[in-house]
Amino acid sequence: MDIRAVAGRLESYAADAVIVNLFENVTEPGSATAVMDQALNGSIRDLITDGDFTGKAGQVSVLYPRGAVPARRVILAGLGAPEKLTVDAVRRAAASAILKARELKAAHVASVLHGTGAGGLAIEESARAITEGSLMALYDYRGQKSSEKPEAFPKQLDLLILDDKDTRAAEGIQQGMAVAAGVAVARDLANLPPNICTPDYMAQVATELAQTAGLKVEVLERRQIEALKMGALLGVAQGSDTPPRFIILEHNAGRDDLDTVVLVGKGVTFDTGGYSIKTAEGMVSMKGDMSGGAAVIGALGVVAGLKLPLRVVGLIPAADNMISGHAYRPQDVLTASNGVTIEVISTDAEGRLLLADALVYASRYQPSAVVDIATLTGACVVALGEGVAAGLFSTDDRLRDTLLAAADFTAERLWPMPLFPEYEKAIESQTADLKNTGGRTGGVGTSATFLKHFVDYPAWAHIDMAGMMTTMGDVPYVPKGATGYGVRLLAEFLQRWAGREKA
Ligand code: BES
Ligand code: MN
Ligand code: ZN
Repeated sequence: MDIRAVAGRLESYAADAVIVNLFENVTEPGSATAVMDQALNGSIRDLITDGDFTGKAGQVSVLYPRGAVPARRVILAGLGAPEKLTVDAVRRAAASAILKARELKAAHVASVLHGTGAGGLAIEESARAITEGSLMALYDYRGQKSSEKPEAFPKQLDLLILDDKDTRAAEGIQQGMAVAAGVAVARDLANLPPNICTPDYMAQVATELAQTAGLKVEVLERRQIEALKMGALLGVAQGSDTPPRFIILEHNAGRDDLDTVVLVGKGVTFDTGGYSIKTAEGMVSMKGDMSGGAAVIGALGVVAGLKLPLRVVGLIPAADNMISGHAYRPQDVLTASNGVTIEVISTDAEGRLLLADALVYASRYQPSAVVDIATLTGACVVALGEGVAAGLFSTDDRLRDTLLAAADFTAERLWPMPLFPEYEKAIESQTADLKNTGGRTGGVGTSATFLKHFVDYPAWAHIDMAGMMTTMGDVPYVPKGATGYGVRLLAEFLQRWAGREKA
């Protein structure tokens, strides 16, 4: 769907559908909705007085003007309570409305800039939120379905502005398109089956993205990974006939004058658990175990699109976790690239192993911050719930607060978790420097504490997104399947980090 800003008035605009909104529990519609209501001889007020439409978030109604206005349909979307208006309410309202337009096979749709009247949102902000919400909602993964792809609706969305010389809406649309494209890249990767989305496939997608977005890309193959002595990543990868890749994406490469942030994403393209094998039930969602890596690839795409004044490096250690005659075993001892030795207790705690080598690699960029994101532990899902929040660990308060503020803005919830010193004891090994698991309790804290041993820079944060990998589709702009969680969060965080005042 194409989106543009067009000067025009909704009540005189010819389209298959025009979208207006209503705040919750208002008796008199305001601004653009009021004008539309008058043009429709009060039929919006009828919906309100009869109690058929309350303006609750997620609510949508369709009105048929029968010639009272040029548009064939009017879609009314609930914005929720006016005092609680956030950009996310706009994303959701836009998403619900555009999904209704798709259902009605409306090709040409126009919309008001939700929340810019009484809601107090800036034009650019609203245009960006509508663009993000609409495009993310229309994302439709068809996979390998052999049936013909249905015709895509709508084809055109016009956001109505007053003055065609005002470029603010167009700028918001541009930003929203960059963001939604990054989310789609991540969702595609995580939705693809593991026999297609291999480490090499991820590297190819990263390479194509780099070419179109203007990023630097480097893909390390097994021999180069060996030369770097990444024994932890190689240990995980050695059981699979599908070779590993270490993917490096870079925005503003070589700009030593800029602050550098490194993002690290877990890229386990399938997690069987290895010899500590998962149950059939536990294994069935594990094509999504590269969602952190996918989020980093998607975020780098957004960062390039937004031209952030920051040097950003994305590192994705990618491997399959499989069993075979050459797979790693429990009680093997691996040596990571910083020389730290690790006794493998569970081959299913593979994510922290390949992240360890990537976190060591991050150090060479002398970053002002490193953020890793991973579907790391079932324990995090037990602690915070499925689809509720990702766990956030940080060694730096400012980094944690910036991430929390970004998460609040993008509505990709994060919840702070502790790095208590007691967790160290749980990962002490008799025969090596560390064990890769810490026993039955405190599993999310011990996993983060393990990672901390590979960090030698002052500001590091770890995001455990295991519970946020997939959805059943309860948020209107996050369709069933892979969520693309983390793309917007990381991009928003980077934008805030770039704009921060240096300490
Ligand atoms: N990829 C899994 C974690 C996971 C579980 C992600 C469910 C998404 C949904 C990870 O590699 C894993 O297997 N973790 C183990 C760690 C344990 C062996 C210490 C777990 O959580 O059970
Ligand atoms: Mn595992
Ligand atoms: Zn895993």
